[in-house]
Amino acid sequence: MPRKRDNPSSRRSRYNLDLPCPFARMHILHVVGARPNFMKAAPVLRALAEHPGAHKAKFRQTLVHTGQHYDAGMSEVFFQQLEMSEPDCNLGVGSGTHAQQTAAVMLALEPVLVERKPDLVLVYGDVNSTVAAALVCAKLGVRVGHVEAGLRSHDRSMPEEINRLLTDQLSDLLFTPTADADENLKLEGIDPVKIHLVGNVMIDTLVRLLPRAAERLPAEISRPYALVTLHRPSNVDDLGWLHELLVTLVDLSSRLSVIFPVHPRTRQRLDELGSLPAPSERFRLIGPLPYLEFLALQRHAAMVITDSGGIQEETTFLGVPCLTVRENTERPITITHGTNQLVGRDLKRLRVAVEEIIGKSAASARACSSCRVPFWDGHAAERIARIVMRDLGA
Ligand code: UD1
Repeated sequence: MPRKRDNPSSRRSRYNLDLPCPFARMHILHVVGARPNFMKAAPVLRALAEHPGAHKAKFRQTLVHTGQHYDAGMSEVFFQQLEMSEPDCNLGVGSGTHAQQTAAVMLALEPVLVERKPDLVLVYGDVNSTVAAALVCAKLGVRVGHVEAGLRSHDRSMPEEINRLLTDQLSDLLFTPTADADENLKLEGIDPVKIHLVGNVMIDTLVRLLPRAAERLPAEISRPYALVTLHRPSNVDDLGWLHELLVTLVDLSSRLSVIFPVHPRTRQRLDELGSLPAPSERFRLIGPLPYLEFLALQRHAAMVITDSGGIQEETTFLGVPCLTVRENTERPITITHGTNQLVGRDLKRLRVAVEEIIGKSAASARACSSCRVPFWDGHAAERIARIVMRDLGA
């Protein structure tokens, strides 16, 4: 069964979250569950609280954490650094198989929605908590807004692709980060009236916190370095492939330093692998990093090697070369923009791409840093707030 977690408590709200208000006419409930959700929800909570209509409409916001990610380093530290109020409610679902985790979120969330009666539920990204919450809302007849709608890898072997497809079909408001996402939704028959191209909320958080991240770069870092993250089942659950990847990364550390903050799923698989490379100055396996520390490392990396979706976007904004260890991406703009390359499951291609980046001058490798993706401007959440307020009649 999924691991149960205790409900955490009640740090005082900065966003007028769920305060008892006898006159409240409007109630927006946000559902977050896993690490990449937190940096997306933070600017939306803030923008809604600061929207001029919020006061007039006497509205309130509730934040529900499903507990999909529960380690302090995967959750709590993000709430602190993103200056988010503690969740009003933690469903404590923990880990499990996909069916267990999704079902546990549904079972625990339904009574919360029945009791709290939100007018609109906002869900984020593509994790199991996202689709579970959207399903509960659809069955209860509660309006749902999906932030980061329309992304498609067209690869249904990815659990996130199933979550994206279903969440979008169930949503009433679809907030997209890029124009290609709008096209995907229209091709799937979604009514264009529901689709709103607002930009990238994760970039809102990056823009706000980048100056603060500057102080968090560890002094002892030896440059140049490659920053590595790997956690997708397709890379880490196949131990043979994970071993080959690891050997390649250790080899690369003779060319430049490698810093690899390890996700809990990957840590478990590395433990199963057994023989880990000896830690050295040039090859560092470390624990998951908080938001600001990771952002500082991304900002100054010579390159990033990853299988994350969000990091492909952050490197695009920062103008840092990114090599994505996947056959496809749901974020094609990162490729056309010129910062991101798919290297697939081809280690030779990875090595060649690393050499190419090393060979380029820092200036040309970062040539794209001055061109921006439309609407990735730090104001996506404000656009969402305006649409939500209009939708709710404020
Ligand atoms: C989830 C998301 C993925 C996202 C990633 C970011 C789904 C299907 N996947 O993948 O899209 O990119 O989060 O991190 O929702 N674990 C811990 N501590 C934690 C959380 C997880 O130890 O706080 C371990 C558990 O043993 C668990 C494993 O990591 O079995 C995987 O966690 P899970 O939430 O199932 O998926 P992620 O791989 O984190």
